[in-house]
Amino acid sequence: MEYCREYEKRFQKYYDELKWLYCELYENRMPEFEDLCGQMYGWYQSRKKGLKDLDRIRSKNPAWYKGNNIAGMMMYVDAFAGNLDGVKRHLDYIEECGINYLHLMPLLDSPEGKSDGGYAVSDFGKVREGLGTIEDLEGLAEECHKRGISLCLDFVMNHTSEEHQWAKRAREGEREYQDRYFFYDNYDLPAQFEKTVPEVFPTTAPGNFTWVPEARKYVMTTFYPYQWDLNYWNPLVLNGMIGNMINLVNKGIDVIRIDAVPYIWKQLGTNCRNLPQVHNIVRIIRIICEIICPGVLLLGEVVMEPDKVVPYFGSVEKPECHMLYNVTTMAATWNSVATREVRLLHQQMEAVSRLPKEYVFLNYLRCHDDIGWGLDYQWLKQFGIEETSHKKHLNDYLTGQYPGSFSRGELYNSDPESGDARLCGTTASLCGIEKAVYEGNEEETDRVIRLNFMLHAYMLSQSGIPVIYSGDEVGQENDYSYHDDPRKQDDSRYLHRGDFRWDLAEKRKERGSVQERIFNGLKKLEEIRRLYPVFGTEAEVRAVDTWDDSVLGLIREGAGEKLIALYNFSGLDKVVWINEDDGVYTDLVTGKEMEGKAVEIPAYGGYWLLRKISPDKGGAAVL
Ligand code: GLC
Repeated sequence: MEYCREYEKRFQKYYDELKWLYCELYENRMPEFEDLCGQMYGWYQSRKKGLKDLDRIRSKNPAWYKGNNIAGMMMYVDAFAGNLDGVKRHLDYIEECGINYLHLMPLLDSPEGKSDGGYAVSDFGKVREGLGTIEDLEGLAEECHKRGISLCLDFVMNHTSEEHQWAKRAREGEREYQDRYFFYDNYDLPAQFEKTVPEVFPTTAPGNFTWVPEARKYVMTTFYPYQWDLNYWNPLVLNGMIGNMINLVNKGIDVIRIDAVPYIWKQLGTNCRNLPQVHNIVRIIRIICEIICPGVLLLGEVVMEPDKVVPYFGSVEKPECHMLYNVTTMAATWNSVATREVRLLHQQMEAVSRLPKEYVFLNYLRCHDDIGWGLDYQWLKQFGIEETSHKKHLNDYLTGQYPGSFSRGELYNSDPESGDARLCGTTASLCGIEKAVYEGNEEETDRVIRLNFMLHAYMLSQSGIPVIYSGDEVGQENDYSYHDDPRKQDDSRYLHRGDFRWDLAEKRKERGSVQERIFNGLKKLEEIRRLYPVFGTEAEVRAVDTWDDSVLGLIREGAGEKLIALYNFSGLDKVVWINEDDGVYTDLVTGKEMEGKAVEIPAYGGYWLLRKISPDKGGAAVL
């Protein structure tokens, strides 16, 4: 009874806006709207008591995910531990890594060999064979909640696999199901689309349409030919997909990563990206979650330039996603590794720090996808940097082709015609650990472990949620075995998706080993980050001029603390001429005391210099 009142209250709060948004997308489709509303109550009723309790706790503290106490990790279930049960058995290890946010990569049913790493879903209600069952997922979520770990899962809503029930029926000629995708009798309209819609995978999957011989029609396939784009002009698609999402959420998922969200609305004559209707849909999803499961967060996957990303937060009154990826900072970080200079990163950091503090970003050094070079070339022009040649330089450097480079990446979707390419590789291989260890060069190993540490320190000193890719905590290198696997060899993203090396993880216990140094270094950074409130999202952040284009400086201030973070990308020992002449600082990592001026910093070194200030004494030193 109490639950009903709770539902009613939430429903009434949002009803008008929900109806308005729905009618804007779908004129005269009230029966479908009413059907959706009816289903919503059913989804609420089937949500378990424990999850509803969690919703209530989180609703009372809506900023629960905005602190400095969350650290994330992303992983493929099979690569990490074989199956869901294995992940459950290894939760101790995950906790030992200091992790309390776990993103499990797509694990729903997906055809072997035509799965795009699980992003071609054939059944949204079934876990892929070999990984376990839906009950295992539910059990894992429960165990995670007991340990205070939040679970994130992808929701692939732009497309289904060609093996999905809807796609199968469409292929067999059922008109009702063809209308759930974009089917065309001939190539006339597809040809018109192709004039304005860019390609996502220009080499591995060129074109945006695929011929379906059984139906004798073309179907829209923005990603791989076996991933059929869903037609959200059809309200049955939206209703059905929201149902699929809530069913997953009701298994105990805390964070839904909305995959490829900018792509979900298609319109002839446009580039089919970021159209206004996409925002209507995301807002509809947000409202439905606020009504049914307000403790659940939406993470939007918007891998685009900053001005395209930020609108997915929505507005303060009408929020859309809770969290978005800080993709430009990630790419700009690798730009700094390859160029050994930080001007772009400095300017990117200033741009992020000007955004409202309510915006929560997910910070990362790498993920399961490639690194794309969507940098601000307009801004770089002033230094005579031109897009094509600059991308070539970055790729040459990070694939180890450039003289003196220590990186061991591989190209992704390299287009020989335009010269464009993206990049793959694990953090350890890109920052020189693979090369130095292979060559047995101890001095160089020390240097590049320091670089790896510095890159993680920089990621952890940004506001938001840091997410480590499983394996990076022990410096896992590239996995070249995908070259011999016919199902993977065309997709170099598998280079950095290798099986987790438990043998390496064991070595974290050997004092002085590469793994121990990386693992404990990262752990220490996480501990410090959790301990000092200055790392919280409330802190003021600004870039500080170091008068050296290869040393990045940032200042965080808040909660009676001031932190100066310095990162030397140059590969040479430096003296940094900052002028924060306001007392003695302590490096939180080494405990060393120093002043905030003329700071000596080794090649690839990073500092977290802290000073306690008293807020009521106008910033005067108390330590
Ligand atoms: C997202 C995923 C990527 C996948 C694509 C298509 O961008 O991160 O791995 O290929 O969506 O689903």
